[in-house]
Amino acid sequence: MKKFPLIVFFAVFAGIMLSAHQGGWAAGGNVTTTVTKDTDIHYTGKYCTECHEKRPVKGGKKFLKYNGDFSKLCWCHGYTPGAYIHPVGVVPSKEKKKKIPKDFPLVNGRLSCITCHDIYLQCRVNPQAKSLNKRFLRGAPYLSRTTLCFRCHDEKKYKMLDPHNQLTRKGEIIIQKCLYCHVEKPDEKRATFKEVKLIGNLEVLCYRCHFKQSRLHPINANHLRKPTAKILAMMKESEKKYGIILPLDYEGKITCPTCHNPHERGVIPTNKPGAKGASEKYRLRLSKENLQICIACHKDKFQQQQQQR
Ligand code: HEC
Ligand code: HEC
Ligand code: HEC
Ligand code: HEC
Ligand code: HEC
Ligand code: HEC
Ligand code: HEC
Repeated sequence: MKKFPLIVFFAVFAGIMLSAHQGGWAAGGNVTTTVTKDTDIHYTGKYCTECHEKRPVKGGKKFLKYNGDFSKLCWCHGYTPGAYIHPVGVVPSKEKKKKIPKDFPLVNGRLSCITCHDIYLQCRVNPQAKSLNKRFLRGAPYLSRTTLCFRCHDEKKYKMLDPHNQLTRKGEIIIQKCLYCHVEKPDEKRATFKEVKLIGNLEVLCYRCHFKQSRLHPINANHLRKPTAKILAMMKESEKKYGIILPLDYEGKITCPTCHNPHERGVIPTNKPGAKGASEKYRLRLSKENLQICIACHKDKFQQQQQQR
């Protein structure tokens, strides 16, 4: 009976653990330690009052803070209305509505954060879910992220959809493609960046499909910011020198189309600076060869490196 004390020890220990984690809640669910942008509050069974006015019980009122406004509730992730990578707050088209599975709930008939994220899942301590389903996505884990997309989107249609493919085989403009990014089809012969009307935030426009690049862009440095006066002057010089455009977003910040040309070759007449980079490798406005695209804004930094080679 030598083993006996050990078994007792485990039984008692397990008992303590169980009572602490009863129903998945950790003791002290209402901890008020300061939460910063970097605190991971999910799946901890704590921090209830970060999101709830007071601790709710299942099936009862949810007591969500900010009237349940997710752009405020999810403040650590810095979303403003209209700036999420997937459309939210929209009423699904009839066609889509038929395909949306029952376990993806709409809120007042509209797509919401909780349509795809099972937020209640992360209210509880759940190490297994935390490792398998970090973003508490409904129906996860998925083999690949697009499997989730095809729960609602038609895979065949989705794969065919490439908004950079803008011309028919005969070279005619497919207007529908323009309307993917533009409010109305621009006059390709005349319109410049200042005149065209784009749909919403420029980065979000690209993130809708280039999701990965919102986290993991091959150029590591965070480029999506306002250039200094010095770099701005260099950009103007490069635009003239190379006959290109390096358009900034509406706030004067660098954005995806600053470096990438989203158009197919042949849409914008080739004699226009806005045509450079169309359908080139990585759709870059200047080639990556010999760091040309980098030199457009970092003449001092990279030209020295090049000369040393
Ligand atoms: C990151 C924010 C956040 C944290 C932290 C959080 N919750 Fe929640 N909780 C929510 C949201 C949002 C909902 C609503 C989900 C929905 O409507 O599908 C919710 C729903 C609930 C519900 C209702 C479930 C139902 O369907 O009846 C309960 C109960 C609950 N939370 C308890 C807790 C408790 C207890 C804690 C702390 C141990 C906690 N939550 C921590 C955001 C949070
Ligand atoms: C159509 C489905 C869908 C909707 C609606 C949705 N999400 Fe997501 N979300 C995803 C998917 C899929 C991922 C997983 C990304 C990955 O792991 O690559 C994700 C990841 C995230 C992440 C982690 C990545 C990051 O950006 O830091 C956060 C935070 C997030 N979503 C918040 C929200 C908020 C807030 C809303 C509502 C405004 C929302 N989501 C609505 C599908 C959705
Ligand atoms: C819960 C269902 C649902 C899921 C899951 C979902 N979507 Fe959507 N998606 C919609 C709805 C609804 C719209 C609005 C357009 C409509 O109603 O046809 C939309 C619109 C879009 C659009 C705008 C273009 C368009 O078709 O109007 C893109 C791009 C998109 N989704 C990509 C994705 C990606 C990528 C994923 C996977 C990460 C995903 N969606 C997952 C329901 C969903
Ligand atoms: C994938 C998104 C996307 C699609 C699709 C798209 N555009 Fe654009 N377009 C942009 C962006 C971003 C800008 C601003 C940056 C720039 O000027 O290149 C722009 C700018 C333009 C400009 C101004 C170019 C300049 O010289 O400054 C014209 C003209 C234009 N688009 C025409 C079109 C036409 C015609 C179509 C349809 C065949 C189309 N676009 C499709 C994203 C798109
Ligand atoms: C509706 C989905 C969609 C949207 C929105 C979209 N793209 Fe794309 N993009 C694609 C697809 C599909 C490809 C791959 C096929 C191709 O290169 O034409 C691609 C390719 C690219 C590539 C080349 C990648 C490589 O490996 O060579 C770049 C760069 C790019 N897109 C930039 C952008 C920018 C910048 C925007 C925003 C103005 C944007 N895209 C908006 C779907 C999209
Ligand atoms: C400062 C210039 C610059 C900006 C800004 C920029 N890119 Fe790129 N991007 C590049 C270069 C250079 C490459 C090629 C890198 C390489 O060799 O892999 C690239 C590669 C890509 C590719 C090819 C696929 C890959 O990941 O390798 C995609 C897609 C892309 N960028 C999308 C985006 C989107 C979306 C944004 C906006 C969030 C963006 N880029 C902003 C310069 C830029
Ligand atoms: C459209 C202009 C533009 C282009 C093109 C560009 N950069 Fe930058 N880059 C910037 C700006 C603006 C900053 C922010 C730092 C500053 O203001 O000095 C920056 C910062 C950096 C940094 C961070 C270092 C620091 O001083 O903080 C690196 C590294 C970098 N860029 C590398 C590259 C590379 C590599 C390329 C080519 C693939 C490239 N950049 C293309 C504008 C650009």
